[in-house]
Amino acid sequence: MASSTLLPAILQAVMQKMPAALNDHHYPGWHLAPVTGLLNDPNGFIHFDGHYHLFYQWNALGCEHKHKCWGHWRSADLLHWQHQPIALMPDEAYDRSGCYSGSAVDDDGVLTLIYTGNVKFDDGTRTAWQCLAQQNSAAGFDKLGPVIALPEGYTGHVRDPKVWRQGNHWYMVLGAQDRQLQGKVLLLRAENLQQWQLLGEIAGSGLGGLGPAGYMWECPDMFTLGDSTYLICCPQGVAREEKRFLNSHPSAWLSGTLDDQTPAYRHGPLHELDAGFEFYAPQTTLTADGRRLLVGWMGTPDGEEMAQPTVAHHWIHQMTCLRELSSRDGKLCQQPIAELQALREAGKVYQGRADDAPPIDAQRLELLLESQGGIELNFADTLIVTWQQDALQLARRSLVTGEWHYRYWTGAASRLQILCDHSSVEIFINDGEGVMSSRYFPTQPAWLTLRGRAELQAHYWSLRRCMVE
Ligand code: FRU
Repeated sequence: MASSTLLPAILQAVMQKMPAALNDHHYPGWHLAPVTGLLNDPNGFIHFDGHYHLFYQWNALGCEHKHKCWGHWRSADLLHWQHQPIALMPDEAYDRSGCYSGSAVDDDGVLTLIYTGNVKFDDGTRTAWQCLAQQNSAAGFDKLGPVIALPEGYTGHVRDPKVWRQGNHWYMVLGAQDRQLQGKVLLLRAENLQQWQLLGEIAGSGLGGLGPAGYMWECPDMFTLGDSTYLICCPQGVAREEKRFLNSHPSAWLSGTLDDQTPAYRHGPLHELDAGFEFYAPQTTLTADGRRLLVGWMGTPDGEEMAQPTVAHHWIHQMTCLRELSSRDGKLCQQPIAELQALREAGKVYQGRADDAPPIDAQRLELLLESQGGIELNFADTLIVTWQQDALQLARRSLVTGEWHYRYWTGAASRLQILCDHSSVEIFINDGEGVMSSRYFPTQPAWLTLRGRAELQAHYWSLRRCMVE
């Protein structure tokens, strides 16, 4: 759609539908969500010139995966966010089927976006361009057009550039599908953002000791933390296991060392990044004080997303909370950022048997639990966590068929940090060694009840609202 018709339609959709969205009792009180329409991947997460910027895939017109724009929020403190002008709309020939995911960099003092221009043809085929846009004086973005065409040997599924600066070069990881329909991550290098050289494949299905591992790797991100270089990726089509990779599209990490000359990435096995029902397309950035933060989309494509009750209120999906990453014994760990503690209201404590614990208001909650397991956590009869000595199990009914679905984290858990919002629960296990993120749609106010004979220590806080302004 041309910007002359898309922009008025977006304005009308926001004016008509935003009241219903914001008044929905499932609308988050402190997570980032679309004011109307559909949100998916976080994009362009960056600290630039004293502010954090977080962009997002946004269809303002409805709850379908169409008309993808880049919405834009800005924050000085990672807690309070402000709406910014829409950054990108699919209004050029090279991005007409969507301004797809990408990243942001500081190009010599100019906030610059690198995104995928997606083009679908009438015969069902598609192509993709990697494109640039620069911030202008009105806080909007001027498109500079495509800088990378489809590389030889790949299908039209090439997207989601993540760019970073190292030494005198720019580097990019790019998600791709090769002509044998195998998912890959490409590494590119440039002296300036216009002229890119493809160095080669650094990971993917059939590479680096992995067997068949999916038909398309989306949303790669690469960074060094501690002694490891981590690659985050979303390998679509990776085989479901009994207790892992159960979402229709999972998100995963690899740990290793990168030789960018060959190029070669030596890495270990593929690990699931989050074992909950909803987590996808995360992106990381560095804070002003050098922390590596991650934010993900608390959704998954193609699941039961359109059966979520929020669709009737003209909005769908939210982001995860912001998380700080750390590297512990070769494992990528995630913990809620310290800034979120500012949302805590007066704290309460409980020590004793789970069975004797009082019901806890779970509407907006942070809960720290210490125990050896043997406890059931029942969130409003809608989401049930079974904490055993050597595993955690999450149970939730299908929104379509009503049958129970399960997710698992395997290992001995002694400490849980649980963050709840009106329709989400994020469980951090053993200080972030594992995470399970899920949406749920309880009647409000939602209560959490604990069951079991096991002893536990609980420390908990209601969280105050913190909405985008
Ligand atoms: C992942 C994804 C990306 C793409 C974007 C489109 O959720 O499919 O690969 O760029 O969403 O919205």
